[in-house]
Amino acid sequence: MQIIKNIEEMQAFRSEMRGSVGFVPTMGALHRGHLSLIRRAREENDHVVVSIFVNPTQFLPGEDFERYPRREEADRNICERAGVDVLFVPEAASVYHDDEVTLKAPPYLGYVLEGHRRPGHFDGVVQVVMKLFNLVRPTRAYFGKKDAQQLCILQKMVEDLFVPVEIVPVDTVREEDGLALSSRNVYLSPEERTRALGVSRSLKRASRLVMAGELDTETIKVAMRETMREIDTIEYIEIVDRGFRPLKRVEIGNTIILVAVKVGRTRLIDNLWI
Ligand code: PAF
Repeated sequence: MQIIKNIEEMQAFRSEMRGSVGFVPTMGALHRGHLSLIRRAREENDHVVVSIFVNPTQFLPGEDFERYPRREEADRNICERAGVDVLFVPEAASVYHDDEVTLKAPPYLGYVLEGHRRPGHFDGVVQVVMKLFNLVRPTRAYFGKKDAQQLCILQKMVEDLFVPVEIVPVDTVREEDGLALSSRNVYLSPEERTRALGVSRSLKRASRLVMAGELDTETIKVAMRETMREIDTIEYIEIVDRGFRPLKRVEIGNTIILVAVKVGRTRLIDNLWI
């Protein structure tokens, strides 16, 4: 596995690569969720590039940029074992420039729900992902469905800006008890972790209701809220279409149920695609 820290080296290495390139952009602290993205990229491409870059521009003031878990050596071993060809670990100073041209997330999709709670977050995401796409020039890029809004925004970014990259959505990986894997789960105490299970349980409840024929979104949201009684703060439960417009009735094949909560000081998101 080639480890590249330098932008020019990445560009030079890429120009020598022939065949398809699968790309998995990450912020490190890799877990089985990332591994499933890497495996999928490995299956579908001649080469696999993983980037690790804790992108400062997508964190708001007061968020966890400084304490975001950084585990370089463990991440390197995971990538090596998973058959990654290139691990790209650029420095922030070389990725960003003074007074630079910036992209903005879509005015609606980028500023509702997660974008409303974290204004500007998705501007930082599109900016860095576009830069990484231009450096890695992937054939396909792999993103988890757990970050549903990020995935939909990036899908829209490549469509709107005619970026020749196929965005591949990959299912959320869960612990056996249902907790969706996230690099931020390490912040949970054992007691908080137990209470956090209310989130995946509420989504299971929603799924059962829909399977039983209940399509009224208010009824589903009330049932979900009940299941999350032990959660400290429910920031939102929303049932939206793929464009993130709220739905009155679930549309099979076009619905995402989204939850954002706080357990202790830890913010968690999860969702269900229907
Ligand atoms: O999902 C993430 O880890 C980040 O938002 C991404 C896509 C790597 C951009 O920094």
